[in-house]
Amino acid sequence: MSGPVRKLSLDEASSLTAGAAMWASVGIPDAGIASFTMADGPMGVASGNVDERDISLLTPCPTALGASWDRELVRKVGRVVGGDAVARGVDAVLGPNLNLARSPLAGRAFEYFSEDPFLAGCLGAAWITGLQETGTGAVAKHMVCNDSETARDSVDVQVDEATLREVYLLPFELAHEADCRAFLAAYNKVNGAWCSESARVLSDIVKDEWGFDGLIMSDWFGTHSGVDAINAGLDLEMPGPARVMGQKLADAAAHGAVAEGRLQDAAERVARVAQRVTGPKAAPADPSAAEAVLEEAAAAGMVLLRNEGGILPLSPASLTKLAVIGPNAAAPCYQGGTFAKIAVAPGTPSPIEGIRARFGEACEIVFEPGVDPQPRLPAMPVRPARDIGDGCTTGMTIDYFASEDCSGAPLTSETRDTNSLVWFVGVHDQARFDRAGSVRATGRFSVTQSGAHRFYVGSTGAARLSVNGAEAVRAGGTVDARDVMGVLKRGDAEFADVVLEAGTQVEVEVTFRFVGARVHGLWFGVRSPDSAEAMLARAIDAARSADAVVLIVGETSDSSVESKDRADTKLAEAQLELIRAVTAVNPRTIAVVNVGHAFDAEWGDLCAALLVAWYPGQGFAHALASVLAGDREPGGRMPVSIAQCESDYPAFDLTPAADGSLVYAEGSRIGYRGLIADGRPARHPVGSGEGYARFAWSAARVEGESVHVTVTNTSDRAGAEVVQLYRDAPECALLGFAKVWLGAGEAAQVVIQPDPRLLRHWQPQGWQAMRGPIAVRLARSAEDGGIPLVLMRS
Ligand code: BGC
Repeated sequence: MSGPVRKLSLDEASSLTAGAAMWASVGIPDAGIASFTMADGPMGVASGNVDERDISLLTPCPTALGASWDRELVRKVGRVVGGDAVARGVDAVLGPNLNLARSPLAGRAFEYFSEDPFLAGCLGAAWITGLQETGTGAVAKHMVCNDSETARDSVDVQVDEATLREVYLLPFELAHEADCRAFLAAYNKVNGAWCSESARVLSDIVKDEWGFDGLIMSDWFGTHSGVDAINAGLDLEMPGPARVMGQKLADAAAHGAVAEGRLQDAAERVARVAQRVTGPKAAPADPSAAEAVLEEAAAAGMVLLRNEGGILPLSPASLTKLAVIGPNAAAPCYQGGTFAKIAVAPGTPSPIEGIRARFGEACEIVFEPGVDPQPRLPAMPVRPARDIGDGCTTGMTIDYFASEDCSGAPLTSETRDTNSLVWFVGVHDQARFDRAGSVRATGRFSVTQSGAHRFYVGSTGAARLSVNGAEAVRAGGTVDARDVMGVLKRGDAEFADVVLEAGTQVEVEVTFRFVGARVHGLWFGVRSPDSAEAMLARAIDAARSADAVVLIVGETSDSSVESKDRADTKLAEAQLELIRAVTAVNPRTIAVVNVGHAFDAEWGDLCAALLVAWYPGQGFAHALASVLAGDREPGGRMPVSIAQCESDYPAFDLTPAADGSLVYAEGSRIGYRGLIADGRPARHPVGSGEGYARFAWSAARVEGESVHVTVTNTSDRAGAEVVQLYRDAPECALLGFAKVWLGAGEAAQVVIQPDPRLLRHWQPQGWQAMRGPIAVRLARSAEDGGIPLVLMRS
């Protein structure tokens, strides 16, 4: 691929080294260089999603995709995201995230495919291939060792060279081999150098050794010295406009601080990528085909860890009454709570809706949340106060006024079904903010339980909430506009109780006065009078009288965030209490866990079945119902280890030392490698998971450098087997894998070619291949003795 059509002047070349705007590069049309647009990822096309109306497709989280162990499926998911990018006019997506689940506390662990570098790299490469088949570019991130969030802007990861290359850079190396268009340099330091200024990583390894000819951009606002960054090999400062690179580098070059050749090289890389990602595009995916892929992927990532007495699959016809219990049944966590959050389409079904659709005709279904599903800011489930002809039947009617006190006729009106309204001035509705002085939100709330209802309101300006015309609560507007997103995540709000009677309908009105700021926010909600004791008691009653219980527990959508790691791996105490209480009255309890990382599963033995759903994206409801009913396999196998207890994890605490360093003391013994080396068997090892079908392996042998085995589906249903190949010395490591789908009674020959990158070691003098007889294992998990074989390598 060529670069610019003519030689660029120094000014032009330097202008290309910084973005034009938040999500766009600089273009120089008369040199044939287009500006390209970017969007955040990786669970879909996320940028510009400033509120619940900006909808895009939401895929399963990468950990769920990691659990699929299925390259072809992950490639299809990448294609779906690429197609969505095409539909939105986005040229490049900031994904995949190729960092590793080093500790289960990592705030963004749900964005990582696995703790295993090879699995993460293979699936990352598959996602990149799928995405790029649509003409969209992938920007793999965050290079490198951005495996946790605590002090992510300053932490200095100390990692030895062999571990850096064999473990943390390996997924990026595989991404490069998949022709990934760009990399994004992480915020942190590695061995004393900012990632955006690490010549060792960016230039020596990635560009010179690997021969990467794409571009390396900074993470958003992640540059320090422009001169040091360009000299180290960073090509593009993001976002734009320039702060430290761009035009400033022309001056630096004039003073000899930057070599002109390096500037021209960076500009050529930007131009080359622009040309590639603004070229021909595939047609956007057909929406129903895309939805089918997302549902298939959600089911393919669900891992069945326990299935006592074969309680699953549950035949709907065999049940009289099914109790669905748990907060996540109605308030699921489809995704993580980072800035790359996707607005899902209204009407996306929740798990209870999916289960009702699949089981509801055959048996009675009762639902009880058991604990408060919205421990922070609750929803505002109202009907619009007015029909404004937009077809919306849920949400508040929002009127915008020129006056400061909602007097006069509204300038404009809309219906919004959300409990948080955020307006970014200049991004959204600029015209409205030029004129509007106040806002009124009105809706009708139907009271289903008598008692004290708690109404909440919070805002960046003065706001008040009234019920049937009587003021109930005021927010003073003391929130700093810059902290709106943080405040919303915490759910900070004023509240007051209003006693209401079941069967009545009340009008809820919230008024808000704008104050000059770049971001305005108004949020509200109502909590029904249920007490924790009453909710738990109803759940126990429902469980006791049912033939079986599907207990859906897990996190809220704001549990996993950027810039913050978790304090522990436990579910909320109220949920643990719910699990104990429900399993005590109904042994036929199937627990479904809706989390994005390894969690404390000590309670798992209380349940007849344990199914990990991760964050499954928009296909959650129907995927779960079909897996429970047995229409689909729970196709997943663990992509991360769940240790017996927190102290067993080879890396756990993520707090940097007083000098800012975070030492990767476990070296290459990340995850299962360390657990096995330390003699601490996992509760649920990497690779484990049951599925419904059963398989036999035969005729395992080594032929040349590949390993062959015949896999036969010995059960009476179709299903998937994940064949894994490990070496055991000098530490256990995954060398290859294959996922095979076989019909009942069907057999197939599986061939795994161990990846040579896992059969080499980094020595001070360079890469050294492992030679001689190498003991390997075909296995169903990292801890399965499996079938031992010997690879001969000369
Ligand atoms: C995150 C990236 C993200 C970027 C743009 C950064 O804070 O670390 O993952 O792509 O913001 O939103």
